[in-house]
Amino acid sequence: MNGNGDAIKSLRIRFQESLSTRDLGQTTRWLTQYPSTNTEARAWADEGAPHGALVFADHQTAGKGRHDRTWSSAPGLNLTVSLVLRPEIGPSQFGLITLAACLAVCQTIQSTCTAVSSRIKWPNDIRIDGKKCCGMLLESAIGKDPGESFVILGIGLNVNQTDFPDLIQNSATSIMLECGRPVDRSHLLSGLLGDLETMLSILEKNPEAIVTQYREKLEGVGKAMILTDVHTNQSYEGILRGVDLTGALQMEIGSTIHSFHAGDVKLQIEGL
Ligand code: BTN
Repeated sequence: MNGNGDAIKSLRIRFQESLSTRDLGQTTRWLTQYPSTNTEARAWADEGAPHGALVFADHQTAGKGRHDRTWSSAPGLNLTVSLVLRPEIGPSQFGLITLAACLAVCQTIQSTCTAVSSRIKWPNDIRIDGKKCCGMLLESAIGKDPGESFVILGIGLNVNQTDFPDLIQNSATSIMLECGRPVDRSHLLSGLLGDLETMLSILEKNPEAIVTQYREKLEGVGKAMILTDVHTNQSYEGILRGVDLTGALQMEIGSTIHSFHAGDVKLQIEGL
């Protein structure tokens, strides 16, 4: 243990004391500083990490965002974590884990600070009053046998950060900024894993219920949007209509509804 090791030890103890899950977070790795928790979780999963294994880093030096962007998070203030998930759903439904995770984050924020209500910008940005407080990075590995497949779910949640780099200063927020008081990261994390375990168990039994709840939290439905295909760089203009039962974005172009998958497109929504 180095530098901030004592702070992490105390955070870990308080986390373990408040954790009430069956699987999520029952096996953990706590890192003071590491390039990316997703990278560590992926390597651990390849070595056989169990369902629910959690990697926590107090400081990521090369945090990864979607579409090869970086994820910036101030050391010692936020949650930058990754989970190894081996859910009882087929790989074709792995994309729905994003929806369940978004709902879990919204639920945890609401329980932490009842006055704060968060919404989802497709596919997996959590925003409060139009500013982003959480992003997720899902990476999946599909094995030959069903039991060999797994998902790495990386979550970056701004908790107690109040200053952001210039580039995102106007578009980023944290729970502390919105709630008006600092938040205990250990309890927030144990609560988040509890909410996520609940959402994943609903997903395994009734995926439609997750899609329905996700639609209720989705921002921008009915608004004009521009969507860019990241492979061809082609842009489309249309109206955001929601998500289908696979979690794909539904966009009305002309009078036809088209579906787009999260890994393939970036979107801008009018007024958001
Ligand atoms: C995004 O909004 O672009 C996704 C951000 C995902 C960030 C989290 S932080 C923990 C995990 N480790 C990473 O390197 N990235 C994810």
